[in-house]
Amino acid sequence: MKVLIVGSGGREHAIAASVAKSPKVDKIYCAPGNAGIGQIAECVDIGAMEFDKLVDFAKEKEIDLTVIGMDDPLVGGVVDKFEEAGLRVFGPRKNAAILEGSKAFSKDLMKKYNIPTAGYENFDSPEEAMKYLETAKMPIVLKADGLALGKGVLICQTREEAMEGVKTLMLDKKFGEAGNTIVVEEFMTGKEVSVLSFVDGKTIKIMTSAQDHKRAKDGDQGLNTGGMGTFSPSPFYTDDVDKFCKEYIYQASVDAMAAEGRPFTGIIFFGLMLTEDGPKVLEYNARFGDPEAQVVLPRMKNDIIDVFEACIDGKLDEIDLEFEDNAAVCVVLASDGYPVSYEKGFEIRGLEQFDGKDGYYVFHAGTKLDDGKIVTNGGRVLGVTAKGDTLKEARANAYEATKLIDFDNKYMRTDIGKEL
Ligand code: AMP
Ligand code: GLY
Repeated sequence: MKVLIVGSGGREHAIAASVAKSPKVDKIYCAPGNAGIGQIAECVDIGAMEFDKLVDFAKEKEIDLTVIGMDDPLVGGVVDKFEEAGLRVFGPRKNAAILEGSKAFSKDLMKKYNIPTAGYENFDSPEEAMKYLETAKMPIVLKADGLALGKGVLICQTREEAMEGVKTLMLDKKFGEAGNTIVVEEFMTGKEVSVLSFVDGKTIKIMTSAQDHKRAKDGDQGLNTGGMGTFSPSPFYTDDVDKFCKEYIYQASVDAMAAEGRPFTGIIFFGLMLTEDGPKVLEYNARFGDPEAQVVLPRMKNDIIDVFEACIDGKLDEIDLEFEDNAAVCVVLASDGYPVSYEKGFEIRGLEQFDGKDGYYVFHAGTKLDDGKIVTNGGRVLGVTAKGDTLKEARANAYEATKLIDFDNKYMRTDIGKEL
């Protein structure tokens, strides 16, 4: 079969690598892809938001299955466009992708269906938000309702910061329309865990857990980024946590969406915080995490095509999801200066040393081919994933492997998975 993957990051490279393992697949296309994806797929120069071009391409090439990796096209309704054209596609429709596309929607959903989450209020008027903040307990969290590249969340220690935050989001419109409505949420503390799942509208199957390191610098210092590294499984995701989430969060979320007339098919990514009062949902995403996919998918034993097809056909109950009994760590190699400003265009050396190296993966994010050479082309450049019997071993393997790759301005955190 022929598969089209939409996206261009490390996550899409990890999806492509899993798809490539399926004996059912003869040909993979990726739009727009990157230099690493180009080694296992044919990259096509169509942007993820160019829905009509994507649909036309899928028709012309007789694509059997399209997999959408990114949030923007999902929230924008790309799945509906494919379905209208009679094409098979994996991902939630627009009316379900709102689970990620509107934080106000997801908070109201959780409240209505008693799914554990932080207390909150939604505001579409800055005056009312500020009035509420005059007496609210600090610290407090402000969130832009819409998509903001993971940067629309402000943790405010003082009332002054919170007032300033309302101004930034709602009046200065730092994240554009995404800040027309904001969620003002109770501040929680605890360990964070990412849990990805496959969903077919009614059945949900949970993948192995993972944890992201979002801050740019060691010791969780510096600015928030798209993610500087991940490990899987999370030792904090205990059997008790799993049992609680299965009882109160996972199926409840899927049932809530169905009850609202918005059946969800695709990936639900639960961002959880393990608080003293039990696990609570920080956020939902409607796609694989990046770089969570880079540690979760290499550990999955199933043929990913079978799982995608079962989700589309409403037969996920027939799938037994299985993961290897080991661990994986992904260290992101970034361009120094990310996430603010950084140079691009430097040659990346050493990639060939990973050819045929079992248990190791180099997932490309910001790379491109330039005159036959692979060069840096973004803030997050590569994700180096290694497996091990234990997290400690996987971590040692991943850091050893980062030494094989070299490029000017190479930067990484040195403490991914260190607390374990
Ligand atoms: P989100 O995009 O909603 O996951 O938020 C981004 C990050 O902000 C999360 O990963 C948390 O580290 C932090 N965060 C979000 N909501 C809260 C909250 N209510 N309390 C404490 N930290 C939060
Ligand atoms: N790593 C967090 C995300 O993909 O949203």
